[in-house]
Amino acid sequence: MKEEKKIFVTKATLPPKEEFLEYVDKIWESAWLTNMGDVHNKLEDTLSKFMDDMDIVLTVNGHLALELALQSLKIEGEVITTPFTFASTTHAIVRNGLKPVFCDIKEDDFTIDPEKIEKIITKDTKAIMPVHVYGNVCDVEAIESIAKKHGLYVVYDAAHTFGERYKGKSVADFGDMSIFSFHATKVFNTIEGGAIALRDKDRRKSLDFLKNFGIADKENVPYVGSNAKMNEFAAAMGLCNMKHLPEYIEKRKRICELYIERLSDIKSIRLNKYNDDTTYNYAYFPIVVEKGSRDELYDKLAKENIFARKYFYPCTNAYECYSENFDPNETPIALDISKKVLTLPIYPDLEEADVERICSVIRREL
Ligand SMILES: Cc1ncc(COP(=O)(O)O)c(C=O)c1O
Repeated sequence: MKEEKKIFVTKATLPPKEEFLEYVDKIWESAWLTNMGDVHNKLEDTLSKFMDDMDIVLTVNGHLALELALQSLKIEGEVITTPFTFASTTHAIVRNGLKPVFCDIKEDDFTIDPEKIEKIITKDTKAIMPVHVYGNVCDVEAIESIAKKHGLYVVYDAAHTFGERYKGKSVADFGDMSIFSFHATKVFNTIEGGAIALRDKDRRKSLDFLKNFGIADKENVPYVGSNAKMNEFAAAMGLCNMKHLPEYIEKRKRICELYIERLSDIKSIRLNKYNDDTTYNYAYFPIVVEKGSRDELYDKLAKENIFARKYFYPCTNAYECYSENFDPNETPIALDISKKVLTLPIYPDLEEADVERICSVIRREL
């Protein structure tokens, strides 16, 4: 029997090669490879315009964007966040010497439950780091009012949300800062890369220093910084991909619509809740297996050469490295969903026939 082609959960989105090579030629001529060159600065401007003239600080990846965003706050104590996220969110808090305090999530869109935030605020709470999981925008209004009432910073992990708008505004324009990931697997990629979008322009300078070892100029080093600079080739990939972003998102949207059409009548699974106020980027397609076994479905799909992902499993508060620190039972909804969720393959080049194949296996098995 002929083996079915392999379908992976994601695939990097590449611009036409010639467009990238044009930049490569220019970079070669200039011999300026990194340290905030022309291409880096052009991408920063392009992204700033794209995000309603927000201040944008490019970084080498989304994780260091998170670490530096937190470092720039100069806080000590506790940060309220959720465990239903990628390792990066929790690690960034811990690696800053701060204590993550986990709030549970909402069942329908997997984002932080604002109704549970106030109960876990203590005198040591300094910030909230919510995650726009899968591109689902958090309840930004409720979070803002809690943060205002208690004098807390808000840093959004917006790694999944690049290109989205909420009530007509760029998704970057909420909280004190939002961080984005431009990893190869994301909707928009710079191979590896990330950005911090700032609402408070005064913070810009310190972030520019922090991403360059804390160096202000040749003789002054006011911060213990890191090396988080985006190089010119990564920025070139970003400029090329930006040209094609609307087309990438449109193709993802069509795939999502097809999944919804084919899966919404299957009683044993639950689909993501979409909100009319959000213009989505269709980064992920999660399903929650409510009846039957998520793990068995995952294995059955893998047997058919379809590689979905248990994303996010385990919750970060269940990680081995935190076994002495946290108890995942304190966030029962996140724990439950982490055991039932699967994200299905989605990327612009995924063919309609592939979606049909994936859906027919799911229908057969559930
Ligand atoms: C929610 C979340 N936060 C942070 C990151 C870190 O981004 P990066 O991989 O660019 O370092 C990711 C990356 O996948 C993510 O999914």
